Amino acid sequence: MVVFFDRVNYLLLTTIEIHFKPHNIWTRKIMKTPKDYIVFPLDLPDYDQAMGYVETLKESVGLFKVGLELFISQGPKIIDAIRDVSSAGIFLDLKLHDIPATVQRAFKAASVHRPTFVTVHCDEGDDILRSAAENNPGHTKILAITVLTSLNQDKLKTLGYRDEYANDISALVLQKARLAKDAGCHGVVCSGLEVGMVKQSLGPDLIAVTPGIRPAWTLVDQDDQQRIVTPADAVRNGSDYVVIGRPIRDAKDPRDAAKRVAEEIASAF
Ligand code: C5P
Repeated sequence: MVVFFDRVNYLLLTTIEIHFKPHNIWTRKIMKTPKDYIVFPLDLPDYDQAMGYVETLKESVGLFKVGLELFISQGPKIIDAIRDVSSAGIFLDLKLHDIPATVQRAFKAASVHRPTFVTVHCDEGDDILRSAAENNPGHTKILAITVLTSLNQDKLKTLGYRDEYANDISALVLQKARLAKDAGCHGVVCSGLEVGMVKQSLGPDLIAVTPGIRPAWTLVDQDDQQRIVTPADAVRNGSDYVVIGRPIRDAKDPRDAAKRVAEEIASAF
């Protein structure tokens, strides 16, 4: 009986997805479970520690993020190792940033490993983004990094940004997100404070990934993330994925912390 209802439920949801795809953000929210929103960054120095967290969290998160530290120390074999034990997606956070030809080749080399996402920086303009997008073999989605969540107004001024953008980070994020969309990227990485505006201005189909997430129970002084929001607020504002590292990694019980984050996300629906 339960199986029958599950099947009916599945068919119903699939029908909704087919008929309303891809315009209705709520359809996607129905299809996804709360844990599917969670991206756990494997910000860890070695294979054993990284795989320890994969083992602990493989049922509790939607994607594992392999960033520079782990990818440089372990190489692509870490992706296969994660896949061997988990069905979670792979978010390859290489934050590519170089001349267009080099980014194009690096993206192509990264996509051989079939990650769900690869990140590319927006900072040098649309040529870099376009060079990756136009040479995408198809199975990997390109996410453009807009403004790192560790940056604030003062830091942007120091970097030479005009007041118009340094004083209004949202305007800068939107400008970069528009560039990314026009260049053919699938989505952007932006803070939970800007995601609502990005979705509203550029449409629900542009994927929004939000780092700088802090559940209320983990707020600490001196956090290096500046533009932070809670998981529930991020999803409520339109985030498709939330990157949550230290609040889960450094918890006494990481699996329980991930479960609490998923519960918080569920409360946002
Ligand atoms: O939650 P926590 O601050 O520990 O998350 C850190 C992770 O978020 C790192 O892997 C970092 O690369 C990622 N991050 C990101 N984009 C930003 C800021 C942080 O992907 N704009």
